[in-house]
Amino acid sequence: MAQKMILDLDTGIDDALAIAYALGSSEVDLIGITSEYGNVLTERSVVNSQQILHLLGHPDIPVYLGAGHSTTTNDFSVLPISAEIHGQDGVGELHLTEPHPEMVTESAVDFILRACQEYGADLSIVATGPMTNLALAIQKDLPTLKKVGQIVIMGGALTVGGNVSPFAEANISQDPEAADLLFKSGLPVTMVGLDVTLRTLFTRTDTAEWRALGTPAATAYADMVDYYIKAYEVTSPHLHGCALHDPLAVAVAIDPSLVTTFPLNLKTEIEGPSRGRTIGNNARLDDPTTRTAVCVQVDTPRFLTEFKARIGHLLAP
Ligand code: RIB
Ligand code: CA
Repeated sequence: MAQKMILDLDTGIDDALAIAYALGSSEVDLIGITSEYGNVLTERSVVNSQQILHLLGHPDIPVYLGAGHSTTTNDFSVLPISAEIHGQDGVGELHLTEPHPEMVTESAVDFILRACQEYGADLSIVATGPMTNLALAIQKDLPTLKKVGQIVIMGGALTVGGNVSPFAEANISQDPEAADLLFKSGLPVTMVGLDVTLRTLFTRTDTAEWRALGTPAATAYADMVDYYIKAYEVTSPHLHGCALHDPLAVAVAIDPSLVTTFPLNLKTEIEGPSRGRTIGNNARLDDPTTRTAVCVQVDTPRFLTEFKARIGHLLAP
């Protein structure tokens, strides 16, 4: 039976790749997308997800409005670096014009809790934006959330530096308190951080293969990822490609054997220059009830093979 999956996204370009990876995987039944602020405003994240779902032939999957700002602020503005990497619209200035459906009225948090109640251990939540919706769900009803099978997050950095500060990765830095609450909640969390995502890179040679497929979806994905690669050529020229952050988290939720994990009780530093750093929780280093694990190594060739096969199949005529 396919695992039920919720994607919690701040829908930028690699979030759109996460959607494609999930839809291209027969092991997954994508039951809904919940929206976060981050790469874009939350309302824009909803529209982007709806348009991507439409483009990929799945317009009926519901998209839920989630948090518009962090748990410690009252509003949110998109950072210039996010707009540079993902475009003003979050999807590489694709200007998708397909009509998008009416927004569903149930909130992201209520949907997450309802799904945990209904599917329990069969449910995976993959979160690739700030951890705010999960933190709000924890605050609202942790016992129900604890019925979930697994939570896989794209966020954090344990063995490498950050990408928005020397210490902090972008998703964690948007709401460090939310991430800290998640790590200390007792929920089963696998952290897919920069430690592994910066080892999974996609190039213009790869997008040319998509473009050659000739479908509207393949052309849109090639255009979108070329935009993302162009931004990486400016911000991280040494990588010679773009990092497949968010789809790797989906892949790990489906097949944990793609990575090597290190069990560690985690915390997020919330004070001073290291605010947003994900690191071991000194107070619980010997606590045997470890529910959090950090991915420290990835089988890059096998992941890239799966990535190309699954998304290539989805984009093909
Ligand atoms: O640091 C990378 C993460 O930040 C990715 O999830 C990207 O989409 C942005 O949200
Ligand atoms: Ca993201």
